[in-house]
Parts: sequence; C-alpha cells; structure tokens
Amino acid sequence: ATSLKEAYADKFYMGAALNLNQIWEKDEAAVAVVLQQFNSIVAENCMKSMHVQPEEGRFYFRDADKFVEFGERNNMHIVGHTLVWHSQAPNWFFVDASGKDVSREVLIERMRNHIHTVVSRYKGRVHGWDVVNEAILDNGDYRNSKFYQIIGEDFIPLAFKFAQEADPDAELYYNDYSTAVPTKRAGIVRMVKKLQEAGVKIDGIGMQEHHGLYHPDVAEVEKTIVEFAALGTKVMVTEMDISVLPHGRANVGAEISDTTAYDEKLNPYTEGLPAKKMEELGNRYKAFFELYLKHQDKISRVTLWGVGDGDSWKNDWPIQGRTDYPLLFDREYQPKPFLQDLIDLASNS
Ligand code: G3I
Repeated sequence: ATSLKEAYADKFYMGAALNLNQIWEKDEAAVAVVLQQFNSIVAENCMKSMHVQPEEGRFYFRDADKFVEFGERNNMHIVGHTLVWHSQAPNWFFVDASGKDVSREVLIERMRNHIHTVVSRYKGRVHGWDVVNEAILDNGDYRNSKFYQIIGEDFIPLAFKFAQEADPDAELYYNDYSTAVPTKRAGIVRMVKKLQEAGVKIDGIGMQEHHGLYHPDVAEVEKTIVEFAALGTKVMVTEMDISVLPHGRANVGAEISDTTAYDEKLNPYTEGLPAKKMEELGNRYKAFFELYLKHQDKISRVTLWGVGDGDSWKNDWPIQGRTDYPLLFDREYQPKPFLQDLIDLASNS
C-alpha cells in the first residue's frame, strides 16, 4: 500500500483533524495529504460551542458547513467535535444578564437547544459526535466544571439523550485525555457503566492519545483499550500526537512548574529535529500503531490531531512559540521518514 488509508482500510478509519485553512482549501499541500492519506476527518475547532454559538441564539455555521461538505465530497467518515466541553464554551452559556450562574433548568435548556440545533443541522451527514468531552479528572472524580456545578453529573446522560433525539442514527461518543492513568480509566469506566445502566445510548469511547516520547506506557494504554472495549462500546483514538518536547509528565525528566517561564531547554529543536530524535519518534509511533493493530477488533478509528507539524497545538502549549514535531508530516507536508513503516505494519498484520 502507498497510503495510510489504503493500508488500514480493513482495520480502522485513519483520520485527521482539520483547521480552517484546510477546511477552506487554502492550504493546497495540506489538503493533498488529507485526500491521499486519510478517510476520516474531525474539525479541530470550528464545531466547538464558542465558535458555533458565540451569543445565545446566534449560530455561526459557515465553517462547520464547509467542513461537512468537504467530508461528503470526498466520501469521508465525518466526526463532530464537540458538543459539551467545559473549555471553549462561551461565557454566556452559564450566566444570566446580571452575570450570575443560571439555574439548573436554564442550563439544561441551553444545552438542549445547542445540541439539538447543531446535531440536527448535520443529521445523517456527521457520522459520530464527541458528545461530552473531558468530564473526568485524573483521580477519577467528575471535573468540577460549570456543567457539573450547575446541573450535577446528570449533564452527561442529558447531553447524550439530546444528541440521540436530534440524530438517532449518529454514533455518540465520550472523549477524554490521559485515559491511560489508572484512576482516570477507572472513573471513565464507572461513568460509562452508569450511562449504560440508565439506558443511555453511548456508542464509543475516545482516547485522545496526546502522548510524549516517554509517557504514557504502551502497556497502560493497552489496559485502557481492553477495559473500554469490555464495556461493549467502540474504542477510538481521537486526537493522536506525540510531542518530542519536554513538558511535565508527558516527558519525564523535564518537569516544568511555571508554564509562563520560557527556557531554551524547553524548545531545543528550533533548527530541526535531530535524526536520533526522529528515530525515537518513529519507534514510539510504531509501538502505538502495533498496539492498535493488535486490537484492531476493538478499535474503529485512529485520528491524528492535525496534518503537518506546523499546524499542531503543541507548538503553543503549554507555552507559546515552540517548535514541536508531533505529527506524521513535517512543516512542508512531507512525510516523516517512518511513515512508510506505519503503512507496512498494516500489511503485515
Ligand atoms: O483563531 C484565533 C486567531 O484568530 C487568533 O489570532 C489566535 C490568537 O491566540 O487565536 C486563534 O484561536 C486559537 C484556536 O486554537 C485556533 O488556532 C485559540 O486561541 C486557541 O485556544 C485554540 O486552541 C485549540 C484548543 O483545543 C482550545 O480550543 C487548539 O487549536 C486545539 O487543537 C485544541 O484541541 C483540543 C481538543 O479540542 C480537545 N482535546 C484537547 C485538544 C488539545 O488541547
């Protein structure tokens, strides 16, 4: 096979997150890579509530429409991201005119209206939705978000119910990061079981997979795949990237406590990635792809969180202006040296 999507065609979808330049096809080189390599897309930002409903009742769909049209025109599996997320939700969502928190009833109604409006617009066209994003903390507790504070844990089943009402045929997902942390994994399993016991439709669990070179352990990720699949839901890799830069837990040995501090040591590869590091990155990608292939009966999709290194959020997080190399294509959209190895892995398994 000569592309990821061909190689993995009978395993799982190969996806990429698209930014606005790609959605509006302003970046020809990136679009060429997307069309050649991927058969699934997700919008990196333009379907988030802040973008879609910046003010109450004022919906903005031009970017999201364009995204869905792009996917349809190219016969792709289209994923919507994300309906309920504490981050990137507009401030108005949670407060009344005087700035005080709205009541439980009002927030539920706003959630209902938002989900119904967005999901029904793309009914039958968006194949799956990240309904709730990042609601569980690393210790397994619920995140104390505005949704949780005002509605309580019911905001989760309610969000799924509203999404199902709006498009009964769309797949509905729970999506989160650091799912290999044992306490967080257990918290997600507990939550999903509760949803299932309450008869809530949930079709899949997304493991974001924002990795570092040395964290997490592949073996812990494997446990997560196995435990999530045991719930009877699809398991998917929704936002994969592998940062080569030092940052906290993601790259052990270079903890940073003050994210505002800028230090050369934290941005060591501004002149290019040394060959040895590239090899390390390739080996790390191969280890994860081998794992996903081993569990191809459980995994329905593997999506990269961006196309070329220059697009990645990792260049700006946790501090801005870094030069990271977390994706499969470089800043000129040329394949990394290990891309062919990832393609070949599929043909051998
Ligand atoms: O579009 C504006 C631009 O006009 C402005 O000049 C610039 C200045 O900061 O900001 C631009 O918006 C930024 C946007 O990305 C587009 O680049 C926002 O500030 C920035 O906050 C936003 O970051 C996104 C982040 O989610 C927050 O929404 C990242 O691109 C996106 O990769 C990231 O994705 C999240 C997933 O949705 C959920 N899981 C974690 C993942 C990584 O954080």
